[in-house]
Amino acid sequence: MSFTGRDILTTEDLNKEDILEILKVTAKMEAAVHTERVLSLLSDRIVAVLFLEPSTRTRLSFVTAVHRLGAKPIIVADAKSSSAQKGESLADMGRTVAGYVDCIVIRQPQKGGAKVIADAVDVPVINGGDGAGQHPTQALLDLYTIQKEKGTLEGLKVAMVGDLKFGRTVHSLSYALAPFGPEFIYCAPDELKMPEPIVSGMRQRGVPVTETAAIDDALQADVIYMTRIQKERFTEAEQYERLKGSYVLNRGLVESGNRSIVIMHPLPRVDEIAVDVDELANAAYFRQAHNGVYLRMALLALVCGEALV
Ligand code: NCD
Repeated sequence: MSFTGRDILTTEDLNKEDILEILKVTAKMEAAVHTERVLSLLSDRIVAVLFLEPSTRTRLSFVTAVHRLGAKPIIVADAKSSSAQKGESLADMGRTVAGYVDCIVIRQPQKGGAKVIADAVDVPVINGGDGAGQHPTQALLDLYTIQKEKGTLEGLKVAMVGDLKFGRTVHSLSYALAPFGPEFIYCAPDELKMPEPIVSGMRQRGVPVTETAAIDDALQADVIYMTRIQKERFTEAEQYERLKGSYVLNRGLVESGNRSIVIMHPLPRVDEIAVDVDELANAAYFRQAHNGVYLRMALLALVCGEALV
């Protein structure tokens, strides 16, 4: 099993062994950053970080990861500054950029778009979010966070709350956790339910799934994963207006459920978690965001064939 040259496009492509290997390397990266700050593992590499959709955490943590590995980034930070604006296809852009760099990280709005690039180029491609499709690096940093917060990934009851239809993070998280014997509670308004192929895919894998619209059901889990209603994916503004604010987790709600529940959110939050939750010891979302650097270092090093041993 080698990661060298491999694309990271979805978590469906990763088996349990792959995931455990990635998490092991992530822990090594975290330890190495604490002692050395900046490593020289990828000092002869250049990485393209192409973000054609808004991002703070994913883009900045990838760029930080590139620097901490000793590599150099080239960056597109918004669609307007790339030739996508002129009508260039993803495949053409990929072919061009692949001639400049050793690895491509791409976020863009088209579901399956990262695969279009990966199919067109020889360098490894990492999907930083493909529209309402998948967000595999987020899911892997979520697993790393859960492992650190709970001490295990095995046999956990995990509730995902909010926009499960358009929220790519929960799609990737479902596939990534499935090999660890979880139980899922999918909590969403009717219009924003988890896509049926994912629900049936989980059941086929033997994962018990409960679908509900009531957040109370989610509060008894081991982990609650809140998500933002994905405003940019709605075609009807009226529908967004009606659904925004569907779920707001506040301190009173947390205290009414499993008090040691680990509270996660991929961020950015709008109003899904009240700020009075932030100071609770089990509010893990900012720690979760920080873990993204180590996870992304691990993935970059693995696909470039230079992981710490
Ligand atoms: C998420 C995304 O972009 O899908 N953000 C992130 O990468 N941390 C979640 C979101 O935007 O709601």
